[in-house]
Amino acid sequence: MAVLLEVKNLKTQFYTDRGLVKAVDGVSYHIDEKETIAIVGESGCGKSVSQLSIMQLIQSPPGKIVDGTILFEGRDLLEYEANGDEMRSIRGGKIAIVFQEPMTSLNPVLTLERQMTESLKIHLGMEKEEARTRASELLSAVGIPDAEKRIDDYPHQYSGGMRQRVMIAMALSCNPKILIADEPTTALDVTTQAQLLELMTDMVARFKASLVIVTHNLGVVARYAQRLYVMYAGRIVESGTSKEIFGTPRHPYTIALLACVPRLDEEDDRKLVPITGMPPNLINMAPVCAFLPRCPYSTEKCRQEPWPDLRKLDGDGQHYVSCYVDT
Ligand SMILES: Nc1ncnc2c1ncn2[C@@H]1O[C@H](COP(=O)(O)OP(=O)(O)OP(=O)(O)O)[C@@H](O)[C@H]1O
Ligand SMILES: [Mg+2]
Repeated sequence: MAVLLEVKNLKTQFYTDRGLVKAVDGVSYHIDEKETIAIVGESGCGKSVSQLSIMQLIQSPPGKIVDGTILFEGRDLLEYEANGDEMRSIRGGKIAIVFQEPMTSLNPVLTLERQMTESLKIHLGMEKEEARTRASELLSAVGIPDAEKRIDDYPHQYSGGMRQRVMIAMALSCNPKILIADEPTTALDVTTQAQLLELMTDMVARFKASLVIVTHNLGVVARYAQRLYVMYAGRIVESGTSKEIFGTPRHPYTIALLACVPRLDEEDDRKLVPITGMPPNLINMAPVCAFLPRCPYSTEKCRQEPWPDLRKLDGDGQHYVSCYVDT
């Protein structure tokens, strides 16, 4: 399958009073056409900043993309002005993002009709009636009953789960190539979470788009993502197919993550073990592996040598890990 987006060595930093925050520190990944990938890791590891960087939505100052390339349709998106026409047509057009909290993305004083038809008019040049028809079709496609009427409602007239569906409909309205779902589901129970992932999976298949699921819940993505990237402290520490990561996790952090999440995809009577220690502070980090203080497998080499690059594991798979230890 053809590569759709390729991110190479992305570095995004924040200049704060407390020091330099290396939020994303040399991240590389790709997504193929019509593929679903997941980016997984604990809170604060740089998942959202990496995705916002792709959209050039990093607030500057204090933030800055300091290195990397983001290849999409043969162009480096970082060559575009953040607020220029090209980037604006990418954002919400070819690459769409569904954010964590729908109430911060939906405008409470405008009806859904107003909010949804706006981008159809701008990006696709539709007239009012055509845009309204298209918007209510989209609402209906994501499972909003009586969409032709409900399109005239305000966001607060929808339940939390329904608002998530509305966000998905809005994100898909301009036929994006990539839908990024940035933890759309954390505040919801696991069943609703699974339903939304199910819906997004269906929708991207229908739209022939790719899906990036950004989450800290490794348990929910197994069934939906073909490949996974595990992030820790601004870097990818392990990547591979779902089968490789769930079957033979190799990075001590991935192993710990798997031990502490309930899984949806199998009967699960394991005892869940929380990861000990604190997530790292991304300011003034030591050059060694950031997982070292929490790692049950660490050796002298880990204390002496710099944080290792990702290396490909033996075999003909796609499994990469950044660790000195043979776990
Ligand atoms: N505007 C900002 N100013 C300073 N630091 C920031 C800013 N935005 C993000 N950061 C820092 O960048 C790091 C990565 O944040 P990010 O939001 O990407 O985490 P995340 O993995 O998405 O976490 P979560 O699961 O909680 O959403 C964090 O240490 C965060 O404090
Ligand atoms: Mg986030």
